[in-house]
Amino acid sequence: MVQPFDRYYPTHCEKQKFSVLIWRKYLRIVHLSDLHIFCPDAISFQKIMNKRLLGLANWYLKRKRQVNYDIFPVLLETLKNLAPEVICITGDLTHLGMKKEFQKSESLLNDMHSIAPVKLVPGNHDLYIKDSAVDMEKILGRFFSITDTEKSQIKKAGENNLFPQIDVVENIALIGLSSSYPCSLLKATGRLGKKQLRKLSVALDELSDKKSLKIVLIHHPSVSGLVKKRKELLDNKALEALRISKGIELFLFGHSHRRFICVDDDKAPKSLHLCAPSITSIKKAAEKRAGFYVLDIMAKKKPFEIKVQDLILSERGNRFVLNGQFSLNLQPKPPFSAC
Ligand SMILES: [Fe+2]
Repeated sequence: MVQPFDRYYPTHCEKQKFSVLIWRKYLRIVHLSDLHIFCPDAISFQKIMNKRLLGLANWYLKRKRQVNYDIFPVLLETLKNLAPEVICITGDLTHLGMKKEFQKSESLLNDMHSIAPVKLVPGNHDLYIKDSAVDMEKILGRFFSITDTEKSQIKKAGENNLFPQIDVVENIALIGLSSSYPCSLLKATGRLGKKQLRKLSVALDELSDKKSLKIVLIHHPSVSGLVKKRKELLDNKALEALRISKGIELFLFGHSHRRFICVDDDKAPKSLHLCAPSITSIKKAAEKRAGFYVLDIMAKKKPFEIKVQDLILSERGNRFVLNGQFSLNLQPKPPFSAC
């Protein structure tokens, strides 16, 4: 049994020396979401005469009082102490999908990257308008994969051409999906599209053959009913069909700005769904207050043993504390064999 809090945490400098030792024991992944970085000084009349005008109104009427960016130094310090192998971010790094917001996000991601490789997927706010997709891919595209994303791959911005982005670490596959697109004025729906789903289906077959644990990173919830209709993933049924037929053991997502955990085992195979709250939220209710998940995955044993720790921002807002934890065994779906 893994006891993460009993584990010796190496300091940042020591991590390099001990990384092999830790790697053999278990893989630690941190999952966070929805940073919503906003730069008021980037706003100009020209840039906001579109859907951004709504986002701007939403900022000044509501969100401004619910976020605190001073949390970032606390977050970085906590991440250093946790010494994860990978940091997963499930979208909405920015609030209006503006170039300056992406640049600000980049500097934060560089700081995180000095702790562990960062893997991210876009959120609907990152692809707010068509131009946002171009800026995001140019500035943050290298974080779509923890191995280098070749610049030559970037051909048609905003068309989900770059996804799925799959990184395999030992026998654990991190599958980044892009569910976001510049949708119409009052909508925040998600869509994977036939092409991306087809590529995902092929990849899942290959990964099942290798008995890999399959972890999907997506911005929109993989669980229906968690967000309003105007915010949901339009092709969630197709994703669900792939989950059942080919097996996706773990889903990491955000978008709903609330912590939510569920195990889906009514139609085997068993899957775990984790929704991270907004990492910059200072809302009082524990369900919506900033936090992130720490996943320790025993990759050498079958079934895979996963220990999940839910960390939450303390009421004073100066540190992250344990909100809850549990362990779960997940068995990758065996490859299909004809009778
Ligand atoms: Fe979102």
